[in-house]
Amino acid sequence: MILVTGGTGLVGAHLLLHLLQNEATSLRAIYRNSQQVEKTKRLFEQANCLTLFDLIEWVKADVLEVPSLEIAFQDIDYVYHCAALISFDPNDEQQLRKVNIEGTANIVNFCIDKKVQKLCYVSSIAALGDLSQNQVVITEETEWNPEVLHSDYAISKYGAEMEVWRAHQEGLAVVIVNPGVILGAGFWKQGSGLFFTQIKKGFPFYTQGSTAYVSVQDVVNIMMQLMNSDCNGERFIVIAENKSYKEVIVEIANKIGAVRPRINATSWLLNVAWRLDWLVSKVFRTKRKISKHGSMSLLNKDQIANAKIINYLNYSFQSVNDCIAEVSKEFKNNTI
Ligand SMILES: NC(=O)c1ccc[n+]([C@@H]2O[C@H](COP(=O)([O-])OP(=O)(O)OC[C@H]3O[C@@H](n4cnc5c(N)ncnc54)[C@H](OP(=O)(O)O)[C@@H]3O)[C@@H](O)[C@H]2O)c1
Repeated sequence: MILVTGGTGLVGAHLLLHLLQNEATSLRAIYRNSQQVEKTKRLFEQANCLTLFDLIEWVKADVLEVPSLEIAFQDIDYVYHCAALISFDPNDEQQLRKVNIEGTANIVNFCIDKKVQKLCYVSSIAALGDLSQNQVVITEETEWNPEVLHSDYAISKYGAEMEVWRAHQEGLAVVIVNPGVILGAGFWKQGSGLFFTQIKKGFPFYTQGSTAYVSVQDVVNIMMQLMNSDCNGERFIVIAENKSYKEVIVEIANKIGAVRPRINATSWLLNVAWRLDWLVSKVFRTKRKISKHGSMSLLNKDQIANAKIINYLNYSFQSVNDCIAEVSKEFKNNTI
């Protein structure tokens, strides 16, 4: 039996659908709140796959609550660990470390204890290494430099990977994927779904920086292929393309019929923005939307490589523009 964590989030929900459409007959997913399960159900509904949704065995569990995991792990052979906290609010530092590092430690400990055959862990490009002077492209081998300033989220994903490698040393078969920004339908109030929601409202800014993007379909497809392969003890960057924020924001605006961004957010403007955001969060006790580190990373132009996964699986990625076109269609239908 397969266990999926994070099945009420973007990646986990699409993974559940993909697994059931392709191979799985026996699937368990964990949830914390039944309202969140409805989002996954709507995704299946949209894909005309409600009968498949009924095949999922939902078990209430939290990655931080060991007794609940004891139940979730009964008779499990394969685990896809997608659950995580994604936040760039510096006030969430403790919670990020707890959910992402301690939560992953709990998952891998159960995998070892229950003799799970293989674990696929969803990490992030945030957990990749830092370019040194003579390097131009970040690969799976690029080393993490502890002296470079990283976001709390990046540190928590890096720490989670360390737990996975520790479990691998103890005999667990593992594979790690490091996706870029994941574009997919159905979760418009969180993660990259927020891009679409904000741009629709007329988001005016862009930056000259870039990052790497990938469709959620490619992420879950690759996860399943790696799980079904002999691959063990490897990590793979999972990105389709590196693109500037401007290119992506303009493309989304064009496709959903929103106003294009007009203001180039320079370093000066970003410095004002994170300070203002800090002030607003103090006065109104709201969540931080942009940190000092986060704002500066929007100017970063480091390129990330995807050759390893392409060669390993002979894989062809969907282009980012094609993915944006597909997701925009879903967004405009607003059916999910
Ligand atoms: N989205 C991206 O662009 C992106 C890019 C690179 C890597 N990733 C990685 O991909 C994975 C999935 O991301 P996503 O976009 O699907 O995130 P998401 O939509 O925010 O979903 C997060 C999932 O984790 C669950 N979760 C959070 N805390 C939990 C806890 N304490 N116990 C059990 N479940 C918990 C959430 O459950 P609730 O519904 O109960 O909150 C939800 O199902 C994460 O590991 C993330 O770091 C994401």
